[in-house]
Amino acid sequence: MSAQSQTLLELDGVETYYGAIQALKGISITVREGEIVTLIGANGAGKSTTLRSINGLNHPRKGTITFQGRDITHDPAHSIVKRGIAQSPEGRKLFPRMSVTENLEMGAFQRRDKAGLAEDMDRVFALFPRLAERRKQKAGTMSGGEQQMCAIGRALMARPKLLMLDEPSMGLAPQLVEEIFGIVQRLNTEQGVSILLAEQNANVALRYAHYGYILENGRVVMEGDAATLTTNEDVKEFYLGLESGGRKSYRNVKHYRRRKRWLA
Ligand SMILES: Nc1ncnc2c1ncn2[C@@H]1O[C@H](COP(=O)(O)OP(=O)(O)OP(=O)(O)O)[C@@H](O)[C@H]1O
Ligand SMILES: [Mg+2]
Repeated sequence: MSAQSQTLLELDGVETYYGAIQALKGISITVREGEIVTLIGANGAGKSTTLRSINGLNHPRKGTITFQGRDITHDPAHSIVKRGIAQSPEGRKLFPRMSVTENLEMGAFQRRDKAGLAEDMDRVFALFPRLAERRKQKAGTMSGGEQQMCAIGRALMARPKLLMLDEPSMGLAPQLVEEIFGIVQRLNTEQGVSILLAEQNANVALRYAHYGYILENGRVVMEGDAATLTTNEDVKEFYLGLESGGRKSYRNVKHYRRRKRWLA
């Protein structure tokens, strides 16, 4: 990624609450045009809340969110989609009794042009041939991986400049995770869509992303190029489950959390 790439999205000191509970304690992140950026963190770190702050579902109480140079901090969700930010939510959230085609149409509900709609649907089907084969199938009867593809496809129907994905790898077999991430990568390189990706699976996220932020307790504790993060000893130990002796189980990783150097 060239250093001159333009900033697409910027969060500056974002603080977001659920009632009295402060979930984000000052998040600052940047996504540049053409980049895949990942937010890595364990359960409850604040990944989904960061995406919800951006997409207008839970507005920050403090801080600012800028998209293409425009302050969108307090814009309503529907106008944020219009500006070019679309999300495939955590847990997919498809309409289970509607067909694949109908679910995809829901992603384009703000548009009126029929020709454009058909064109976008063809583009989604070209990207996800498995969806094309199942266009009439009810979404709720598809496999987890197919549902994930459908959820991503639905977000693409809004023709986003920035696509946000919340844990696309969740519950999927490794081979399917690679297939989906491969498609996300093509979307990025061939169509220039920027990606903001929330993942617990740091291993796969850092292999596909250009840049990453590590979140803990509503704060960014580390950031850097994916390559740099991948070789960082703390990241290796706590997020990639690796240490000099080889693989380490997640259970053990959790056990050692207390020793994190950035908390010292
Ligand atoms: N609806 C809610 N009401 C109250 N607190 C919430 C709500 N949703 C999230 N939180 C809290 O906000 C914090 C951040 O949660 P968030 O869902 O953003 O984490 P996450 O990084 O996405 O975790 P996960 O990997 O489990 O999805 C957590 O402490 C969580 O308990
Ligand atoms: Mg989440």
